[in-house]
Amino acid sequence: MTDPLILIDTRGDGERRTRLITLNRPKQLNALNDALMDQLGAALQAADDDAGIGCIVITGSEKAFAAGADISAMQSHTYMHVYKTNFITRNWETIRRVRKPVIAAVAGFALGGGCELAMMCDMLIAAENAKFGQPEIKIGIIPGAGGTQRLPRAVGKAKAMDLVLTGRMMDAQEAERAGLVSRLVPLEKLMDEALAAADLICALSGPSVMMAKECVNRAFEGSLADGVDYERRVFHSLFATADQKEGMAAFLEKRPPKFSQS
Ligand code: HXC
Repeated sequence: MTDPLILIDTRGDGERRTRLITLNRPKQLNALNDALMDQLGAALQAADDDAGIGCIVITGSEKAFAAGADISAMQSHTYMHVYKTNFITRNWETIRRVRKPVIAAVAGFALGGGCELAMMCDMLIAAENAKFGQPEIKIGIIPGAGGTQRLPRAVGKAKAMDLVLTGRMMDAQEAERAGLVSRLVPLEKLMDEALAAADLICALSGPSVMMAKECVNRAFEGSLADGVDYERRVFHSLFATADQKEGMAAFLEKRPPKFSQS
């Protein structure tokens, strides 16, 4: 039997729990091939559909989150093959449809498609040994899973150009200074930190968490004026939820809220 390409676990002990997905091609530094991305897409969709799940964490090994798309699988691809099979869009983009928060817990290499996968997540928690980069330029291609768009939005044009045009890696400290990483922690604390953040999110009101994610994504994807209008509509709609009534009542009554997820 071959090893599964991803490992799926459920963590936490609250009413809603965390789905932990571990990329599992350690010998290939978690190089991302189509079979793995199909499985990751299915696992993400299943977690999103499961009412008992409040947050998703994606991680790799201590040596590599993922060292990129699988170069050995891509090397012989032709233009017609990638166009007709809708390469990348077909399975990598599933993550864009996930409505629950996704946290990337990154140790070691996050390169090429690995860096792009981490950037598709909503929060990026990195271990001190993490290394980020878009080295595609060194093998005759460019980032093709959103890297040329998400990296400049995350770190600004100057540093994005530097990374994309030279293919150099940046260490975790530089990535945190640049704003790519939300938290930087010692390697041995990485999973505790990511799962604790996920636990916190699981205990919140799911609908407001999903709407908050949608609004922040608008900031990333559209204009400021459209984003603010969109945020206001969603903000108004939250006053139709039971959890808004309960959350505010609990605050005023100085007690913990009991969210009904509705
Ligand atoms: C296929 C890979 C791989 C990859 C590593 N391996 N990265 N296989 N695709 N992206 C394999 C190696 O071939 C090797 O296999 C094994 O993993 C261990 O790697 P080593 O190179 O021996 O390890 P090390 O010396 O520690 O160097 C680590 C490294 C290096 C710096 C991360 O492996 C590297 O530069 N990898 C390629 C990074 C890259 O260019 N990524 C972008 C890919 S393109 P064997 O069998 O020899 O043991 C891309 C496109 C994105 O991501 C756009 C569409 C998604």
